[in-house]
Amino acid sequence: MELLDGMQTRKSIRAFKPDPVPRDLVERVLDAARWSPSWGNTQPWELVVAGGEVVTRLTGDMAAAFEQKQPPNPDVVMPQTFPDAYKERYMACAAGLFGTMGIAREDKARRFAHMVNMTRAFGAPAIIYVVFEEGLTVPYTMLDLGALIHGVCLAAHALGLGTCIEAQLALYPDLVRRHLDLPANKKIVVGLALGYPDPAAPANAFRTDREPLDKFVIWVGC
Ligand SMILES: Cc1cc2nc3c(=O)[nH]c(=O)nc-3n(C[C@H](O)[C@H](O)[C@H](O)COP(=O)(O)O)c2cc1C
Repeated sequence: MELLDGMQTRKSIRAFKPDPVPRDLVERVLDAARWSPSWGNTQPWELVVAGGEVVTRLTGDMAAAFEQKQPPNPDVVMPQTFPDAYKERYMACAAGLFGTMGIAREDKARRFAHMVNMTRAFGAPAIIYVVFEEGLTVPYTMLDLGALIHGVCLAAHALGLGTCIEAQLALYPDLVRRHLDLPANKKIVVGLALGYPDPAAPANAFRTDREPLDKFVIWVGC
């Protein structure tokens, strides 16, 4: 797959086939993504790849916590509000996805069921957890991790896999640490749902839009 094509055709996948992803294929993805840039080449990322029963047990516990409305306590502060322009895009994204899935705005039960399914990594057979060590400077570390995450998503796409970056999978970091056997100083940023896209699922027909260049680029002296 040509790089520029891959960048334009990657999208979040929110329904997966149950087929496990062979470990050597995940290794190819991560072997490409490890070349992502970072501040001073510090490479402040750690990845934990979970599959099989670990995913079943972890997502089961997270979904139960979510359904019981246990208060989330993410390691990295999550945005609660947005200035208007960004809020509009956020709302449009949710409305577009629910519209494509045939979920009515007022159908709270199905919207909640979608969130629970999100907590179950949309049925993905694997989750790649993105972790960093406590003590790193958070804002720039997030920039470095973001570069890596995009690299993972692009490489997975190039190899026929689908991903969804999910903050939802980081709502209960203590559960994640327990299931992945991680110490308390390993902070959980997001989980990436990983697997083979289910082409028949309505959720996967959804495509987000992007603003044109003239909306966010200022040219100076050129
Ligand atoms: C930091 C981050 C967290 C995200 N968390 C979630 C999530 O919890 N659930 C979800 O369905 N999508 C999540 N997404 C996916 C975004 O909704 C998606 O990338 C965005 O709408 C653009 O769509 P696209 O990825 O299909 O191009 C997240 C993306 C990022 C970058």
